Formats: sequence, C-alpha cells, structure tokens
Amino acid sequence: MNGTIGVIERYKEFLPVNARTPMISMGEGSTPLVKSTNIGPSVGCDNLYFKLEGCNPTGSFKDRGMVMAIAKALEGGRKRVICASTGNTSASAAAYSARYNLQAFVVVPSGEIALGKLAQAMAYGARILAVDGNFDDALKMVRDLSTELSIELVNSLNPYRLEGQKTASFEISDALGDAPDMICIPVGNAGNISAYWKGFNEYRIDEQISKLPRMMGFQAAGAAPIVKGEPIHEPQTIASAIRIGNPASWDKAVAARDESEGDIDAVTDAEIIEAYIRLARDEGIFCEPASAASVAGLIKLAAQGQQFEEMKVVCILTGMGLKDPTTVENHALVELEYVEPDVDQVAALLSK
Ligand code: F0G
Repeated sequence: MNGTIGVIERYKEFLPVNARTPMISMGEGSTPLVKSTNIGPSVGCDNLYFKLEGCNPTGSFKDRGMVMAIAKALEGGRKRVICASTGNTSASAAAYSARYNLQAFVVVPSGEIALGKLAQAMAYGARILAVDGNFDDALKMVRDLSTELSIELVNSLNPYRLEGQKTASFEISDALGDAPDMICIPVGNAGNISAYWKGFNEYRIDEQISKLPRMMGFQAAGAAPIVKGEPIHEPQTIASAIRIGNPASWDKAVAARDESEGDIDAVTDAEIIEAYIRLARDEGIFCEPASAASVAGLIKLAAQGQQFEEMKVVCILTGMGLKDPTTVENHALVELEYVEPDVDQVAALLSK
C-alpha cells in the first residue's frame, strides 16, 4: 500500500478522470484494514476486519468522495462549494476547499453536530450556517441554494462523491485478495453503502474479484427510515452522524441490499454505545458512535444465530472517536483519580 498517493491517482482507471482533471490529494485512502483480536472471536467470527476510515485526513471516509468532487469542481472552474452535513461532510468540504482555494459554505443542523466536527469546520475557515432544523431540512435547503446561487453541491447527491467513496471497496478487495463475504456498514444518508456496492460490482466486472459481498447496513433505531419503509420526520439517535430521516440515496441503498442478498436493519442507541465502548476497550479502536453501528449490527446478527464460520467479514468504521468528545465523556464512565505528586501515596493507591 502506498499511503502517500491519494485515491484519485491510485484508482484513476476506475474513476471519472480525464486530462483536465487535477490529480489532487491530501493523502486520503489507503486506510488500515485491521483484524479483530477480541470481538470477532467472541461472536464466532474468526475473520473479522475493521476498515479504519477514521485514519483519513479529516478523520472520516468523506475525504475519499470529497477529493473527487473537489477535483471535478476545480476542473469545471467552480469557485464555491456548498453542503449540508451532520458534521463529517462539512469538515471534509471545508478542508479540501481551504487547500484548493475554494470558498466553502456548510449548512449544519443547529446544536446537533459533534463538537470536534464543528471545530474542524471552524479551523478550516468555512462559512458555517447553523440552521434551525434537522439534517433533512438542511439538505433540502442546500439543493435549492446550489441551483439558485450556482454553487457546486458537494453532498453525495453529487455523483463524484460516490465515485470517490467506492475506492474503499477496492482497497478492501486488494488487501484481502478477493471481496469479503460480508460488509457491515452504518447507513445515514445512504451514500456510502451505495458507493461500496458500486465499487464491488465494478471490480467484479473487471475480474479483480471473484464474488460479491452481502451488504449489511445498519441504521440507528430512532432514525431508521429504510427499515421502517417511510421517512422519519424527527429522527433521534445518539449517533448524530446518522441522525437522518429521509436519505438522499434511499433507492440505491435498497438496490445494494436486495442485489447483494443483504439486509438493512436497525440497532438501538444502547447497542451502539455498547459496541462503541467494546471497540475501544477490547480492540483499542476509538471510533465515533455512528461508526460503531456496524459492529453493533454484527453483534446483533450473531445473537440472532448468524454463523460466520469460514466467512470474511469487514465492519466499516467510518469516523474517528475524537470528533465526538461529549459522547465518550457521558458514556465511558471513567472517574479521574486526583492525586498529589507523592510516589508513596500513589503507590499505596495503585496497590489496593
Ligand atoms: N458514519 C459517519 C461517521 C458519517 O458521518 C456518516 C454520514 C455515515 C456513517 C453514514 O454514511 O450518509 O453515506 O449513509 N455523514 C454525513 C455527513 C451525512 O454529513 O457527514 P451515509
């Protein structure tokens, strides 16, 4: 693996790249695929891997798609980009815009995005519009604004976003030597599950892989429109990244589910937090709550009797834990032990 080139250069023959497309990069992609030490064996899955998308430059998988969308915006001579976001898309749009001299407008649901993500958009210098509404309201607004003001929309409605994001399925296949048997992935606006499925299909057609994985998507129970089969007007979940009631790529996600003989199910906030803490305590992986929905889903499948023998399963850990310090503070249940700088006293305390 080459961590110094980005996804456009690495996978250009599978991407909408032409002679005028700038081969930009911030070193996105080539993220680790790490084998589980504890969770996998505990659920009877000896070949469980985690794709650590939090290792991307802005700490989430969004960078894969954003680099492609920004490259195409630059190719088209655009000067401004806009997106609605639960936080990660805005962080990524702001970063790539800063680097390539575009102005970024980000629209976020007021008071609903994790602190670290807001900090990122602020640091990168985006213009931040906090809308009194939820993500679905924000997305509707930016769709209209992008047309009205002729600003490039960089949400996953922009097809270049999914093109970039599909590179994760290439990396997983390259690393394992073939496609895995199953992908467990969180579902919010439903772009990422659709992008993975597109990627696996293209790799299969190109005979890079011999089979296709089952796509298992997981929504948060309070924000599970695809599971329920209807939009949710006031989606609720602790996993703010996937607090979405009317996903833009709904149809594509359903196609990925059905064509792969997979499923899209819901996991509760309690299950998400349990998986989130287990990932940190049992695997040393600190991801954000939405990412842990993939592992919560795997644990749920195991509890329902799914057998994983001989199967290679990959859970996609979409974003890194530091983005959401509030959730860990509220749920890790760790008390600081305040001590004097006195070796004898501390030694006595630690020997108890
Ligand atoms: N995990 C994380 C950490 C996310 O930020 C998102 C989406 C998802 C999973 C779900 O992916 O939307 O493609 O189904 N975040 C978007 C955002 C909505 O604005 O950052 P999806």
